[in-house]
Amino acid sequence: MLFRAQGAPLRWYTAVMAKHSTITVKLGDRSYPIIIGSGLLDGAFDLTRFMRGSDCLIVSNETVAPLYLDRLRANLGDKTIHSIELPDGEAHKSIASLQTILDRLAESGAGRDTTVIALGGGVVGDIAGFAAACYMRGVAFIQVPTTLLAQVDSSVGGKTGVNHPEGKNLIGAFHQPRAVLIDTSTLSSLPDRELKAGLAEVIKHGAICDIEFFAWLEENMQKLLRKEPLALAHAVQRSCEIKAEVVADDEREAGRRAILNFGHTFGHAIERCEGYGEWLHGEAVAAGMVMAAELSGIIDADIDRLRALIAQAGLPVSPPSIDADSWMRAMGMDKKVEQDQLRFVLLHALGDAHVTSSYDNELLRQIVGADAR
Ligand code: NAD
Ligand code: GLY
Repeated sequence: MLFRAQGAPLRWYTAVMAKHSTITVKLGDRSYPIIIGSGLLDGAFDLTRFMRGSDCLIVSNETVAPLYLDRLRANLGDKTIHSIELPDGEAHKSIASLQTILDRLAESGAGRDTTVIALGGGVVGDIAGFAAACYMRGVAFIQVPTTLLAQVDSSVGGKTGVNHPEGKNLIGAFHQPRAVLIDTSTLSSLPDRELKAGLAEVIKHGAICDIEFFAWLEENMQKLLRKEPLALAHAVQRSCEIKAEVVADDEREAGRRAILNFGHTFGHAIERCEGYGEWLHGEAVAAGMVMAAELSGIIDADIDRLRALIAQAGLPVSPPSIDADSWMRAMGMDKKVEQDQLRFVLLHALGDAHVTSSYDNELLRQIVGADAR
């Protein structure tokens, strides 16, 4: 997205394009870098240093591969490159897609030292990561996320998996990548609706633990919607810093990491009731965050600020019409259920989240039962 100004010397252009920043996800000997920059896929970054052996399988989909597969290849030197294109869409985040990838790995004779590279959004990243976790009990994995949602959230932290008709991400594994390469210029081709869905997770990061970032988003949301490079770079950078810090603190979600699921208990229920892919994940999370804020019992001014920022991002602030029983059933399947008691990520205040199974049951029924929505 950085274009060479007319008459600008090539030296300047190359320097700007090559500029990148690195955040480390600190997990001991499994620590890995998140490399962020514009134009990194234009051969500016040597990805082979994160590969184990001499061959790799790039997993992408029918939409992203025509746009970026050749550019990614340029970053892989003389490695043997296999690639596979999945059908596009959340509906294909399935055991069937996993099987396709595993078949391809086995048929190409991939060994323990192979590397799986995910090129695409969160769907491709989650499936490819899970395939990497399963094949030969775990092979190397690299994330090259191309949606905002994947760049600010799903590519970092090692959660991988597929959906089951009975629930979202019901089948999966923790499998950390060896590197995450974020070329923010790939966002130039991202449809607006997908950009907005990613902004939901960006807003989430501010809402759960960084009120200053939240305020920055209030000031800069229009720039983000216009895909202004500097604004996007900051939103991706700050989101990755927050996610990296939380994951390093609690990799397996024994406690604190669950705050990253703010809005997700409601959001997953929306996705499940509406059918995966009807509401985008980020859209469902956006409405879910407002519902979670309402359940938190925080001051109205904070709920209003959250609602206003979500609306400013062009995201839904209320859920679709779902009857109260369907809500409760759908939320009951959520992985955050513990001993028959739902657990929610709630806010003490904007910028300060916690996980709890202590909440106002009557208020919850009101929130999911209000048919005025
Ligand atoms: P997605 O992967 O379906 O991508 C959205 C759409 O954008 C797709 O049609 C895709 O082909 C297209 N696309 C991707 N990059 C593009 C580009 N640069 N230009 C044009 N089109 C492009 O959806 P998503 O929002 O990226 O990810 C949602 C998934 O991520 C959900 O399955 C969700 O459960 C998962 N998720 C996982 C985690 C995690 O921690 N693993 C966190 C959040 C979300
Ligand atoms: N997206 C929630 C997590 O990574 O934990």
